[in-house]
Amino acid sequence: MYRAGQEEVDEVAKVILSKQWFRVGDEKDGHLRQVERFEEEWAEKLGVAHAILMNGGGTAGLVCALAALGIGPGDEVIVPAYTWLATATSVLAVGAIPVLAEVDETLGLDPDDFARRIGLHTKAVIPVHMAGRPANLEAILAIARQRGVKVVEDSCQAVGGSYKGRRTGTWGDVGVFSFNQYKILSTGGEGGCLVTNDRKLFERAFIYHDSGAAFRPKAGELQEPIFVAQQYRAGEVMGAIASVQMQRLDGILADLRRARNALAEALADAKTVTVAPSNDPAGDCGVMLTLTFRDEAKARVFATAPDVGGLVLIDHGKHVYTNWEPLRAKRISHHTDMNPFFFPKNKGLRADYSDTACPRTLEILRRTVYVQINPDWSGEQIASRVEALQAATRTP
Ligand SMILES: Cc1ncc(COP(=O)(O)O)c(C=O)c1O
Repeated sequence: MYRAGQEEVDEVAKVILSKQWFRVGDEKDGHLRQVERFEEEWAEKLGVAHAILMNGGGTAGLVCALAALGIGPGDEVIVPAYTWLATATSVLAVGAIPVLAEVDETLGLDPDDFARRIGLHTKAVIPVHMAGRPANLEAILAIARQRGVKVVEDSCQAVGGSYKGRRTGTWGDVGVFSFNQYKILSTGGEGGCLVTNDRKLFERAFIYHDSGAAFRPKAGELQEPIFVAQQYRAGEVMGAIASVQMQRLDGILADLRRARNALAEALADAKTVTVAPSNDPAGDCGVMLTLTFRDEAKARVFATAPDVGGLVLIDHGKHVYTNWEPLRAKRISHHTDMNPFFFPKNKGLRADYSDTACPRTLEILRRTVYVQINPDWSGEQIASRVEALQAATRTP
């Protein structure tokens, strides 16, 4: 979350004073329809038919997306080896098995490796738009459509990003955003959103997130049979913050991109560093400047040079699959009989999370560096960052 102010306070205050905090209520009683209004406006902004705001974050969104698609025991879902671990754990949450695939230098899922890793039991793939950078959606979608694989876009780190002029999250069967504290927008520290153009998937995701849709005002309109599930409903305070945050989005993205582009241009002619290739530079949210180096030693020297504040991506904690404990130890759920790795239907499915599962990803992460961008940098601050980065390129 980059920006917040009095506008959020005012909208939240209205909800609190209305004493109508549940997502469903009657306007005659002063209910403000904050959640529903946000869902309508977010869907319109993204150019998609349906949106569901969620308590439980992007993780809940991913779980609902997979549940909506009917993914479960006996199914494999391909996930990139570089992503926040929730992309993989959401697959386990519905009883299926995550199968790793390599990322390429764009840090998105490598389409060729995705194609190679599709197996008999592959039901879905989750391309991730890491650090605001769009994955190669055209190639991934073409392969997925041809091979009968469903696509859930994890746009948790790319809220508002786009690919070839269309928003990330709206290309696949379902798209998911995170609104936690560390994302481009936040709905109060936690939160997330699911979007889809498919009415059936929307209904199933809605039922799953609403413990059986008992509280949907127009439950009678649902065509899908109601089933028992989880409770990830958003409340009106979250809806109020979401609406105000949404209005800040275009300004934040414009400022992030302006700062990121200035830094990227300043390094365009550098010999020792390359601005990482992008699947669509115009759609990149600009939260990070991503740089690639010849080797890890060079990356580390640059990242630790004065005033650079860089992160070598192999150090990116639980975004790197080799740090996904307890998944690697196969300790899942609260009860052994609910551990998908031991389900009879999952016997024989591929579950390799060893250091050798995705060597190319690890090799890329060792020589790639993020430099964080701040949308509130002044022109002067951008100039001094440019100086620091240019000086770092000259460090022997
Ligand atoms: C790529 C990715 N996927 C999923 C998530 C999960 O989102 P949340 O923390 O809102 O549950 C995150 C959050 O960090 C993420 O970065």
